Amino acid sequence: MAAFSSMHCPPPYSSSINGGKNRSFIFSASPRFSVPAKAKVFVQSPGNSHQNAVLMQDGAVAAKVSPVEKETPIEKLKGDLLSVTSSKEWDEETGFDINENESTVSIMVVGASGDLAKKKIFPALFALYYEGCLPKHFTIYGYARSKMTDAELRNMVSKTLTCRIDKRENCGEKMDEFLKRCFYHSGQYDSEENFAQLDKKLKEHEGGRVSNRLFYLSIPPNIFINAVKCASMSASSGNGWTRVIVEKPFGRDSESSAALTKALKQYLNEDQIFRIDHYLGKELVENLSVLRFSNLIFEPLWSRQFIRNVQLIFSEDFGTEGRGGYFDHYGIIRDIMQNHLLQILALFAMETPVSLDAEDIRNEKVKVLRSMRPLQLEDVVIGQYKSHTKGGVTYPAYTDDKTVPKDSLTPTFAAAALFIDNARWDGVPFLMKAGKALHNKRAEIRVQFRHVPGNLYNRKFGTDLDQATNELVIRVQPDEAIYLKINNKVPGLGMRLDRSNLNLHYAARYSKEIPDAYERLLLDAIEGERRLFIRSDELDAAWSLFTPVLAELEEKKIIPEYYPYGSRGPVGAHYLAARYNVRWGDLGVEQSA
Ligand code: BG6
Repeated sequence: MAAFSSMHCPPPYSSSINGGKNRSFIFSASPRFSVPAKAKVFVQSPGNSHQNAVLMQDGAVAAKVSPVEKETPIEKLKGDLLSVTSSKEWDEETGFDINENESTVSIMVVGASGDLAKKKIFPALFALYYEGCLPKHFTIYGYARSKMTDAELRNMVSKTLTCRIDKRENCGEKMDEFLKRCFYHSGQYDSEENFAQLDKKLKEHEGGRVSNRLFYLSIPPNIFINAVKCASMSASSGNGWTRVIVEKPFGRDSESSAALTKALKQYLNEDQIFRIDHYLGKELVENLSVLRFSNLIFEPLWSRQFIRNVQLIFSEDFGTEGRGGYFDHYGIIRDIMQNHLLQILALFAMETPVSLDAEDIRNEKVKVLRSMRPLQLEDVVIGQYKSHTKGGVTYPAYTDDKTVPKDSLTPTFAAAALFIDNARWDGVPFLMKAGKALHNKRAEIRVQFRHVPGNLYNRKFGTDLDQATNELVIRVQPDEAIYLKINNKVPGLGMRLDRSNLNLHYAARYSKEIPDAYERLLLDAIEGERRLFIRSDELDAAWSLFTPVLAELEEKKIIPEYYPYGSRGPVGAHYLAARYNVRWGDLGVEQSA
């Protein structure tokens, strides 16, 4: 559905978006569009509670079939034509091409007063609006339990719109326009009645146009299902698509994740569920495939033959401040490794997909995950930060957080060695390291290459041959960069070598700001592009890798190694790496700019 983006937001994956299979609209209630006589409505029942739901071609629940007396002509026509056909058949038969002006998109931020909504979702929506990426007819509805007026929501949103657009031209004007499109509805997350009231308000805004609805569930997992149920039963679109973005945690282990998926699928088709992993929306993660598949020099080297190890590193220089209650139930392995780092790993290691279509890419990612060995306890090191005083300032221990039990063993740091048992990666350690309250904030991918065989210059490096190997660093954040460490002759009459960087430093190369990951992902969800969202089989495969070790860590009550707030983390991470002849690449002093 490239229509929205055609003016200002060039469709990033034009072939897949414009292709019939991703088109979001099936039919319009607008009198301008009539349903061709031979058209059939795609009927599918995702579960018991939705047996009479009509699903849109992308799986959206279009309408519960209305009682006959209430039928509008188009609903009657749908009723007459209720015979099962595939979405593809429907698409081909109708040849529909809906005029974008006749459609609306309503974006419901469920959990509107929460942190994520304030810090990320509303600012990302505003940035999209500023860039002209939102459709002409759009409405944003905040939904939460607290009582608030539209004006109060606007006030709250305007205060937190500290986005990258802040200092841009006409920002104030644009913000006013944007805020006029923002509304608020107060309701319980488990009340069909409250969602029905929302539906009524939405209809008023939609004004009879084709209505497309995107629910962003920014709420705790224990209320996911009720909210999905109520939204789907009482506030689904009647004639367009309905999609739901869900935020992690998607369960705590294989079992709870499967239960969550099963429950969601009672009300939604898989194609309606957009499981967000915001790391997939980060510019350099998005660029990973471009780097590999559009540069001749990388792909031939992308295997065990040339790569010695791969490191995926995440660190934050602050603790769980304010999020201890959530975090203590999950820990760093579930919070960062099982999703963000593993997703990057899968993209990094996958085979060349057949095309850039979402399913082709996700098929390759899932193959990588399924080829991996479940993580073993001996390949994991866990840590927890302790209080530390530096320069007269005392930084708290993890357990100083009032929402964390004093005897908590939850890891705030973990390092792990993972292996992909396939022909390309056999024996190559993929090392992950993730931690909070460390000495810096950083996310990067480091690819360490093998030694040059029979290197003429070996003796110039002394005994430490590691110093002579190439390393490719993809710095996801901050200060995005891609650099390759090479050996180089120091200019002069002698023959002295050093290690220098071939450096693509984004700030120096591109004047354009880098969009926030949430902007890209929200736009993709609006456009029906699923490439950067997690499919349920990917999720299952990801949990299978981590569930056994998580259970073992918890059953055996393994004590984490304590590290001072602001340090480089537990020393155990070095021993783990050394076991596989690896040295963490982020430890040396770096010349990267
Ligand atoms: C979230 C985690 O998914 O990612 C947080 O739950 C973490 O614990 C955050 O702080 C990091 O995201 P970013 O984009 O700031 O690196």
